[in-house]
Amino acid sequence: MTSNFNVRSASGYEQLMGRWSRQLAPRLIDFAGLADGERVLDVGCGTGSLTFALPKAANVSEIAAIDYSPVFVEEATRRNADPRITIQEADACALPFKDGYFDRALSLLVLHFVPEAGKAISEMRRVVRPGGVVAAAVWDHLGGMPGMRMMVDTVAMLDENARQLRSHYCFQPMMRPDEMKQSFIEHGLTEVEQASLLIRMDYQSFEDYWEPIAAGEGPLGKYVAALAPTQRKVTDAAVKAAYEAGQPDGPRSFAAVAWACRGVVPFA
Ligand SMILES: C[S@@+](CC[C@H](N)C(=O)[O-])C[C@H]1O[C@@H](n2cnc3c(N)ncnc32)[C@H](O)[C@@H]1O
Repeated sequence: MTSNFNVRSASGYEQLMGRWSRQLAPRLIDFAGLADGERVLDVGCGTGSLTFALPKAANVSEIAAIDYSPVFVEEATRRNADPRITIQEADACALPFKDGYFDRALSLLVLHFVPEAGKAISEMRRVVRPGGVVAAAVWDHLGGMPGMRMMVDTVAMLDENARQLRSHYCFQPMMRPDEMKQSFIEHGLTEVEQASLLIRMDYQSFEDYWEPIAAGEGPLGKYVAALAPTQRKVTDAAVKAAYEAGQPDGPRSFAAVAWACRGVVPFA
């Protein structure tokens, strides 16, 4: 299996994550660097948060975007009006490009869904020219996502199955400190640097926070959508109480931190 990601709908993804990954994309680009005239690869483009941020950051010559999910490839293609961008279905672990074709390969919030994430890093390295850059970011679910931990911890107090979900959620591939850095080094990248990228997830209300999850999108949504009605009622109320934290419902702002790594492809 080359992906653990499950997608229900592109619009559901936008509400759950796309609105935040659009904020994170420019931060990954700043960290990875980008220059006019470059050929860039976006691995696991989803609905295109990073893909469409790239030509805003530099006058690049070509952007190739790939994703495993046909639902996302279709949506990103529908949104694309830039002739420099091509989007296709492909696996991060078997990239359909020649060795050394790109100046940079970037991947935003993807490697934690790839069971053999090292293989994807090795493929990114293969398709980037010597001297070019490979960069990736994944959420720090354990220590950097208080808004989501709040929900996961609340349901883990209520249900044994949710405790397993929490363990899986917090320790997906590349999420442990230095894990991605070590993997970049093991796969032959040099000048490897690690950073924390920060955005804030701002919600208007509990409904704005809970609706995308309750609709069944993403791994947490899949769990919530499968609950029996009584258990669901208890869960909704407990998560709402955690969101409100003793104050009236309304806007809340949560920090969200991603681990990021970049490395340079060596000459021979
Ligand atoms: C959380 S989404 C991130 C999408 C987009 N990069 C963003 O930041 O909004 C994870 C994406 O990784 C893709 N993905 C997961 N495993 C993959 C694989 N083996 N090859 C290519 N794409 C993969 C999923 O289909 C999904 O679009």
